[in-house]
Amino acid sequence: MVKQMSRANRKLEHIKYALESNKEEVSAFDGMKIIHQSVTSLNWDDIELHTKLGGLSLSSPLFVNAMTGGGGMDTETINKNLAIAAKETGISMSVGSQMSAIKNNEEERTYRVVRSENPNGIIFANLGSEASVEQAQRAVDMIEADALQIHLNVLQELIMPEGDRNFERMESRIEAIVNRLPVPVIIKEIGQGFSKESALRMKNVGVEYIDVAGKGGTNFSIVENRRRKTPLSSFDYWGIPTPASIKEVHSVFPECQLLASGGIRNGLDGAKSLILGAKAFGMAGSLLKVLVNEGLEALVERIEDIHKEVQMIMLMLESKTPDQLAGKPHVFTGELYDWIHQRI
Ligand code: FNR
Repeated sequence: MVKQMSRANRKLEHIKYALESNKEEVSAFDGMKIIHQSVTSLNWDDIELHTKLGGLSLSSPLFVNAMTGGGGMDTETINKNLAIAAKETGISMSVGSQMSAIKNNEEERTYRVVRSENPNGIIFANLGSEASVEQAQRAVDMIEADALQIHLNVLQELIMPEGDRNFERMESRIEAIVNRLPVPVIIKEIGQGFSKESALRMKNVGVEYIDVAGKGGTNFSIVENRRRKTPLSSFDYWGIPTPASIKEVHSVFPECQLLASGGIRNGLDGAKSLILGAKAFGMAGSLLKVLVNEGLEALVERIEDIHKEVQMIMLMLESKTPDQLAGKPHVFTGELYDWIHQRI
């Protein structure tokens, strides 16, 4: 019971601190400029947001990334509202880690609400890399998920006093889940980004979908340090900035179904991700902030504006579909340029 209470508290603390954690004043996305084009031949009415992510057919390249569930009423209400917004705007969404509901059935309703509110939507289940094949299948069944996200969060675990310390079987567990599950398995970071080396290790165990979830947005080093008596602040800005991470993964694993997330603020950052090779882009903290501070209607408007921004860029860059943005002319400046030229 005490353990359950502390897990519920942790979820609410995560939400509170995550909303305050984005301290980076400069986004790495600002180190990438799309080259404006004056001449186009497209009609707004022909711009199509539908796109493919491997075997999944998405109405939009934007998705709500994994955040919450478990604990009590508060997370159920948040998930319900995120699901309503996702349904109204036709975007996909993930739930937060379902391990707490796998350990305590009573918490399942805080996740199931996402499916009951949006019976036909594309929904991703979510677990950590400690999950077994059976647990992975249960998470998918719980919400009739279209795909499963497995999050890798080594730094967060190490900063958490109660976190995991043993990652010996991470790759073999992921390999088993990828081989045995009937739905796509997306391996994601939670804000530190994927490197070339880690992407290749995932490729070697059969992974086809990676969400880079890079540095630049919600920052779990800061979140977890807020919960420690003695913060390990050296890690506050550890990680690979999201646009650099997309380039890293795409450079060694071009056939990967790449998702981008981590500090995506708007449709412009989303479009930049698609230009760099992502097929979809996720937003977590910034959408949650709109929901919590301004309400459901404001969240729906925000998502519609993000869609509008992506469509504007698509029209200017002569791209009828999101995937046609891939490789459109752009330049890098400053730190992002330095990173890319040393690593790619
Ligand atoms: C998260 N994130 C997350 N990721 C995951 O795979 N499982 C989880 O349970 C959670 N929990 C969670 C809670 C809260 C409150 C936030 C804000 C985020 C991480 C999330 O999916 C995403 O990878 C990062 O937040 C980076 O994206 P943003 O927030 O910068 O858009």
